[in-house]
Amino acid sequence: KGTANQKDFLHINDFDKATILNILDRAREVKELLKSGERTYLPFKGKTMAMIFAKPSMRTRVSFETGFYLLGGHAIYLGPNDIQMGKREETRDVARVLSRYNDIIMARVFAHQLLLATTPSDIPQSRFWQLHIIVETNLFIFPGGSEEEDILDLAKYATVPVINGLTDYNHPCQIMADALTMIEHVGQLEGTKVVYVGDGNNIVHSWLLLAAVIPFHFVCACPKGFEPDQETVEKARQAGVSKIEITNDPKEAMSGPAWDRRKKPHFAASISRIPGRSMRNDNLKPTVDEQLMKLAGKKAYFMHCLPAERGVEVTDGVIEAPNSIVFPQAENRMHAQNAIMLHVLGL
Ligand code: CP
Ligand code: NVA
Repeated sequence: KGTANQKDFLHINDFDKATILNILDRAREVKELLKSGERTYLPFKGKTMAMIFAKPSMRTRVSFETGFYLLGGHAIYLGPNDIQMGKREETRDVARVLSRYNDIIMARVFAHQLLLATTPSDIPQSRFWQLHIIVETNLFIFPGGSEEEDILDLAKYATVPVINGLTDYNHPCQIMADALTMIEHVGQLEGTKVVYVGDGNNIVHSWLLLAAVIPFHFVCACPKGFEPDQETVEKARQAGVSKIEITNDPKEAMSGPAWDRRKKPHFAASISRIPGRSMRNDNLKPTVDEQLMKLAGKKAYFMHCLPAERGVEVTDGVIEAPNSIVFPQAENRMHAQNAIMLHVLGL
C-alpha cells in the first residue's frame, strides 16, 4: 500500500498521491497523442489482455478493448457465459491459466456487499446452487465467499497485473476517469467540491478511497438506508486528507459552502445507482433536476458515470445542459485506463 509498484489496480488508495497524479498526467499525455491522430506509439505491441465480464458493460468493455488496441495490444472479451469464474472453474485456476496466455487481466465481477439480510432462508447451502442464483437473478449471495473475494483471489493467484473493472464494492477506473475530467474542466482536483447525489454504492466507495489520497471536499447525499459502507467512510476520514460529509439532504449538499472557496469555487455533481435498487419511493426522486443544480451555482458541472436512467436519476434538461460533462467523462474512461495499464505494466 502507498507504493508506486503495486502489481494490480484494485482500489485507488492502494497508491500514493504522487502515483495517482502521475497516472493522471500520463493519461493526459497519451490522450493528446491519440487525439492528434498519432498511431505509432504502440507500447502494448505483442501484448494481450484477458477481459472477464461477469456483468454487462458498454463503456468498460469498449474503452478497455479500444484503448489496448490503439496502443498496439490485443484484448480478449470473456463474457458472462464464457469462463464463468467461480462456477465452471475456481478463480485460482482461472487466474493461473489466464496468466500463462496474457500480459494483463481486467475483470468486472460481483462483490461482497452481501444482501444476506434479504436472502431467503430456504436457499440450499450448495455453493454451486448459490452461484447459479447469482447468475440468474443478480442477487449477491455468497456465504463464506464473495465475488469481491474473487477479484482479490484473481489478483492473488494471477502472476500478471489485474485491473478492477467494477465490483459491487468499488469502481476505481471510473473515478480515475472522473478525476481526469475534473482536472480538465476545473484545472485541478485538489480543493474541488464534489457532491455525489444517489445511493451509497461502488461509485461512492471509490470517491471515498480517492479522497483518502488526494485532498478535496466530498459530500455524499444519499437516501436514508442507502449510506455508503461505514468502514470505508471511516477509512477515508481517518486518512485525514479530505473533507468528507455524508448527508441525507441533497439540497444542503449542493448549496453548502465549498471547503476552501479561494481555491475552487466549482462543484461537480455525480450520481449513479445500482440497477434494481430503485429510489423511486424515497425523497430523492427525481434525483438531480434543474432546481437542485441551480443550488450549486453557475460554475457547477454535472457528471454521471452512465448508464443513466433519464427521468428517474436525472432530468433530460440537466444531462443535456452545456455544463454537463458526461460524454467527455465517458471518453476519459479510455484515457485513464490506458495510463493505468501503462503503469501496472511498468511501461
Ligand atoms: N460507467 C460504466 O462502467 O459503464 P459500463 O457499465 O457500461 O461499463
Ligand atoms: N453503480 C453502478 C455503476 C455502473 C457503472 C453499478 O454498479 O451498476
